[in-house]
Amino acid sequence: MSPTIPTRRLFVTTALPYANGSFHIGHIMEYIQADIWVRFQRMQGHEVHFVCADDAHGAPIMLKAEAEGVTPEALVARIGAERARYLDGFHIAFDNWHSTHSPENTALAQDIYRKLDAAGLIARRSIEQFFDPVKGMFLADRYIKGGCPKCGAKDQYGDNCEVCGAVYAPTDLIEPYSTLSGAAPVLKTSEHFFFRLSDPACVRFLEDWINAPGRLQPQVVNKAREWLEGGDAQAGATALSDWDISRDAPYFGIEIPGEPGKYFYVWLDAPIGYLASFRNYCTRRGIDFDAFLADPESRQIHFIGKDIIYFHTLFWPAMLKFAGYKVPDNVFVHGFITVSGEKMSKSRGTGISPLRYLDLGMNPEWLRYYIAAKLNANVEDVDFNPDDFVARVNSDLIGKFVNIASRAAGFLSKRFAGRLATEWDTAGRHLVDHVRGSAAAIAADYEAREFGKAIRAIMALADEVNQYADRARPWDLAKDPARAADLQVACSVLINGFALLARYLAPVLPDIARRAAALTGLDFARWDNAANVTAIRPYEHLMARIDPKAIDALFDLPAAPAATAAPAAPVRAAPATASPATPAAPAASPATIGIEDFARVDLRIARIVDAQPVEGADKLVRLVLDIGEARPRNVFAGIKAAYAPAALVGRLTVMVANLAPRKMKFGVSEGMVLAASDPDGGTSGLYLLAPDAGATAGMRVK
Ligand code: MSP
Ligand code: ZN
Repeated sequence: MSPTIPTRRLFVTTALPYANGSFHIGHIMEYIQADIWVRFQRMQGHEVHFVCADDAHGAPIMLKAEAEGVTPEALVARIGAERARYLDGFHIAFDNWHSTHSPENTALAQDIYRKLDAAGLIARRSIEQFFDPVKGMFLADRYIKGGCPKCGAKDQYGDNCEVCGAVYAPTDLIEPYSTLSGAAPVLKTSEHFFFRLSDPACVRFLEDWINAPGRLQPQVVNKAREWLEGGDAQAGATALSDWDISRDAPYFGIEIPGEPGKYFYVWLDAPIGYLASFRNYCTRRGIDFDAFLADPESRQIHFIGKDIIYFHTLFWPAMLKFAGYKVPDNVFVHGFITVSGEKMSKSRGTGISPLRYLDLGMNPEWLRYYIAAKLNANVEDVDFNPDDFVARVNSDLIGKFVNIASRAAGFLSKRFAGRLATEWDTAGRHLVDHVRGSAAAIAADYEAREFGKAIRAIMALADEVNQYADRARPWDLAKDPARAADLQVACSVLINGFALLARYLAPVLPDIARRAAALTGLDFARWDNAANVTAIRPYEHLMARIDPKAIDALFDLPAAPAATAAPAAPVRAAPATASPATPAAPAASPATIGIEDFARVDLRIARIVDAQPVEGADKLVRLVLDIGEARPRNVFAGIKAAYAPAALVGRLTVMVANLAPRKMKFGVSEGMVLAASDPDGGTSGLYLLAPDAGATAGMRVK
């Protein structure tokens, strides 16, 4: 720890994930970002408490549990029980994982509410809302569908039309229906509780809080200001309206004290879960929760994604302030992770499954490294690109960093019983001094969450260490017994360079740091890097390279490129006889199906709007298909051997429109085109289906 930096007391959180689903790669990215920062702070000697929790409440969780025939508590417990596997798997070291469905959260939420009420900031108003008479519950906008009042498109959600983009209220829908029961909703009045955010005292406080120097990223300040000042300033209005914080039973949440049948809206109690988890942890660890929050030196820091800025920069600080609690010191916002440039989406089956990643035996530190290398302090999206991932890990992390140790350690163990030289050549001394002297600059990058910059600086140093190795040529020195002393010096310099780099990478690569500590006998718990390595233990392999084939498995890339495309299609000729080589093959001729099975396949006439070769895939063509929808479909088809892409443009063919989208290395395939082929999958040609003249894009094929 640098003597000039006073010890900080930090309370750090990440956003509380909804407890109705497993972690996705976006969650893992957020946790990795925060975990790196927390580990770095700990290496500086600061006191850090890093907590999270499940966000357990709300209608979606209640309804999902109901659909599964379990209690919401049981659903939340099941999801909660999965968490450790992911967190341990990716070396994410929260000090505590709790739940918003907990006694601590109930007590804190009720306390905060009472104090806001006492401060005159809670209002009651009757509002009219859609109610599902069959389900017996009020309906949030997302549970109401109907015809678009503007363009008439059917089955549009209650707030906006996906076809024409119109924005409206659910009450404007034509023939609205409840997506829960199908019933026509009725308007019903009920009393709701509002947090009076429009109160001038709130607005004044938020202006100060948002604009405090160093508190928020500039992009976040701009967003928050827009919301705050977006109203008609001349009329003295702000854009902030009062916030509806209550929901009527049935609701899975925390009851509003003294108001039977009324619950806090999930976003009221969710951030309070940060405090609930911290309090739960403090109790177990004997830390004085109230004293920590009252300490003017303690800092409260939230890591979140860009979609929940509003809640964290307006509602949350105001709630805390006017209930007399400590307000957040920083809200650090990150962008979203995309996969091969595409937004990940559970419903479309895209994205990379973190559990799959671990189950495939992929090293969690590859992902930590890659994410760190791509992160900066801005609210920018981060793209996971498979080729880039393999290249950065294999050529930078392994090629530049890990290899330094594997090259030098072997000679030291075999030839010098693991002992290092203490007197070095001039170039070696300068090199190690230079690497050691870079600690402050790299620390500043970590501190500022400029992880990509830190990684670039560390890799530039690794290049210099490798250049030293290229000049000293230990592998040549090792052949000449007379040059044993030079060999020992060169390898000693290299191991010391490696140890310094391992320390700089320790926040990102905790497991490598642990192994580097075992190898060198140094302690990597602190940033302080004054000690030299004087002896090493026998070298154990630090990290393997990524096998690009493992990446294909991660993406569900089919073994034969044709599997998502033509030859697997149902129109292929059925084999006359089973192959004699595989007498037991059961699938020679498919079992009969009923018409209702066939009806489940949505076959459509598709017009090929565009066709392009796919770089890195010899057999694939990327097709853009118009099937009469607002947005054309993207489909990868294994037909390149039979068709030049350009020759396909403008043709009509047949596609399976309701095939689950499939994430491939090159992008998402949103269907399949049909082609005929022989039973061997196309050795004698592939023949794309085409309709008779007169058919048009979007027609159903039955
Ligand atoms: N439950 C709320 C948060 C309550 S905080 C008091 C919530 N949950 S979430 O599960 O939807 O999201 C949790 C975090 O994951 C959020 O910070 C969100 O921004 C982040 N991410 C969700 N998708 C993401 C990506 N694709 N990429 C990176 N982070 C993403 O919101
Ligand atoms: Zn419309």
